[in-house]
Amino acid sequence: MSAGAEEGGARPGRDGAPGAPGAPGAPASGRDRVRGVAVLGSTGSIGTTALRVLDRQRHAFRVSALTAYENATLLEEQARRFVPPFVGLVRDGRPHPADWRTGAECLVGAATLAEVDIVLNAVVGAAGLDATLAGLRAGKRVALANKETLVVAGELVAAAAAQGGGEIVPVDSEHSAILQCVGHRPASEIRRLLLTASGGPFRGWTRERLEQATVADALRHPTWRMGRKITVDSATLANKALEVIEAHFLFGIPYDRIEVVVHPQSVVHSFVEFIDGSVLAQVGVPSMELPVLYALTHPERLADEGVAPFDPVAASPLTFERVRAEDFPALSLGLAAGRAGGAAPAIFNAANEQAVALFLEGRMSFADIASAIGAALDALSGMSAQDRGALLAADAAARAHVREGAGVGRAHRPAEV
Ligand SMILES: NC(=O)c1ccc[n+]([C@@H]2O[C@H](COP(=O)([O-])OP(=O)(O)OC[C@H]3O[C@@H](n4cnc5c(N)ncnc54)[C@H](OP(=O)(O)O)[C@@H]3O)[C@@H](O)[C@H]2O)c1
Repeated sequence: MSAGAEEGGARPGRDGAPGAPGAPGAPASGRDRVRGVAVLGSTGSIGTTALRVLDRQRHAFRVSALTAYENATLLEEQARRFVPPFVGLVRDGRPHPADWRTGAECLVGAATLAEVDIVLNAVVGAAGLDATLAGLRAGKRVALANKETLVVAGELVAAAAAQGGGEIVPVDSEHSAILQCVGHRPASEIRRLLLTASGGPFRGWTRERLEQATVADALRHPTWRMGRKITVDSATLANKALEVIEAHFLFGIPYDRIEVVVHPQSVVHSFVEFIDGSVLAQVGVPSMELPVLYALTHPERLADEGVAPFDPVAASPLTFERVRAEDFPALSLGLAAGRAGGAAPAIFNAANEQAVALFLEGRMSFADIASAIGAALDALSGMSAQDRGALLAADAAARAHVREGAGVGRAHRPAEV
């Protein structure tokens, strides 16, 4: 929906944009008062990273809500430490304190609480969609790690932001980098976005060797420690396709002006080329604490000593390589789905989520992930994307298609969107 994106609905807050810090009706600046943060997916990689940052920044932020899917033990520990008024556990049936909310609705409940100014959406997968929509409609800042939200429903997200006055600020390091480089310049001054990719654990692997890749191989990421799903997405390069689609919706840049370059050191987080030929990059140690903090404070900056200082000599040499798209077909499938628009990105995302789950369960090979995505996209092209219901139907059909193709029954951990 580049047209919708061009109109700026889902774009990160800029001066005067709806809900942008400083605009009328926007939450007060972080320097003025303590802001409430809901951390959705608090028990995951980004969630625990965010809580480390929030722990250091208690003078500026208060944790107002925490949610997890099923890890009640860690959630309870976090609740004892931060004492939020709202705690939600999506999957009921585990012992938990009586005042916790349960079920998938707790995500929307947390995202729309009056005391929440910022919804940090660190849920994995399409399950994060409704909380993003609800938070934006309620006028909140959504600090978005859950990139799948924008891939499944970029246009709906833009409409929700326009309707409620909320704003999205990206947590993904590449998009945080782009936001910091773009500043307040309009999309018309941007010639090209160049997203960096670490290349994942299989960067130097031949196509033949990739056929034999195991789950343990795929989970051995060279530079980032992340949740299992995004780590596999980094190995297939599906993650970079999700990020290109995310960038398209966030910054209103057409797909033919968004490129990917492999940068194994993960120090340059992305580049922005402007129409005059100047190129800006944002650089830093590969730690998600930096983009998490920036998503909370944008466009301001708060002093923070959590991450080791950047040492350019220690980071040297910085290298860049062409992406081997021919050996990582999930990337091209995702880019084609983004360009096709309609329900195709939602189908790509759901087929990928399901295929990765089956790969992690040992029921699908690494190479079959991309084949399953391609087959789902072929079989389901033309499905409607007119509203949330249609997109969820496309999501469900893609998951079912992948499971049937793999000869597997119902998913034991559905998207719960
Ligand atoms: N990790 C990174 O460095 C990184 C970087 C950039 C972007 N991201 C994005 O951030 C998101 C989270 O990634 P992650 O690596 O933090 O994942 P993760 O470690 O797997 O954590 C996922 C979190 O979401 C919860 N969750 C899982 N399924 C859920 C469902 N159906 N409904 C509600 N909550 C659910 C989990 O709860 P339980 O613990 O109870 O299962 C956990 O708290 C993803 O969209 C990813 O692409 C991650």
